[in-house]
Amino acid sequence: MRLDRYLVEVGLGSRSEVKQIVKKGLIKVNGQVEKSAKTHIREGEDQIHYQDQELTYQTFYYWMLNKPAGVLSATQDSSSKTVLDLLDPDDWRKDLFPVGRLDKDTEGLLLLTNNGPLAHAMLSPKRHVTKVYRALVAGEMTVEDQKRFAEGIRFKDFTSKPAELELLQVGQGCSEVLIRIQEGKFHQVKRMVAACGKEVTYLERLSMGALQLDPELARGTYRALREEELALLQDYDVPL
Ligand code: URA
Repeated sequence: MRLDRYLVEVGLGSRSEVKQIVKKGLIKVNGQVEKSAKTHIREGEDQIHYQDQELTYQTFYYWMLNKPAGVLSATQDSSSKTVLDLLDPDDWRKDLFPVGRLDKDTEGLLLLTNNGPLAHAMLSPKRHVTKVYRALVAGEMTVEDQKRFAEGIRFKDFTSKPAELELLQVGQGCSEVLIRIQEGKFHQVKRMVAACGKEVTYLERLSMGALQLDPELARGTYRALREEELALLQDYDVPL
């Protein structure tokens, strides 16, 4: 890999910034100052130092995004803004993708990564990964609805697995609820609520497995996963 690309990938700066850094003689490759950004290095083998600090190459990237309404859970789209468009150009990589999809109007937790096996494991129906959603609903949800969720709801194309409906606030024609499902069928939460004769007016994902949306993370912003959050992903038994 070219030295300048490597330096961008380890997060030292943008392409033009790292070129300047190299030109100034601040980068050493295997102990020797390297002033050509075009030099090829062997990532993971050559020792690269910036001002005597060793740079380590990262294979996988993990960003926790607090998705806002109005952006698509896709990598690119000709007409709409996508979740990848929310990344700073320095953090953007063409191999990043969202783990699963949230509807365009759904907000909340979305993991962006380039770790395919992890995404596959998190989305695999066999793993029964619990997703928790907070929903505002037009209509008053009832104990009867809770039973329907728990029993599984039959649709034309599938029958939902047992799910949990927790009533947070109900009254004056509307409800605030928490919904825990272990599947990820298209519009699943909205369809389950609609099957009870009510309508989701707002939907936010709070967690996916053990990974929880950071309440300090402002809507529309993202940050790298922390060590302790990465440790939670070890349960999926894939290289991280
Ligand atoms: N269920 C839905 O209906 N929409 C989402 O975005 C996620 C789950």
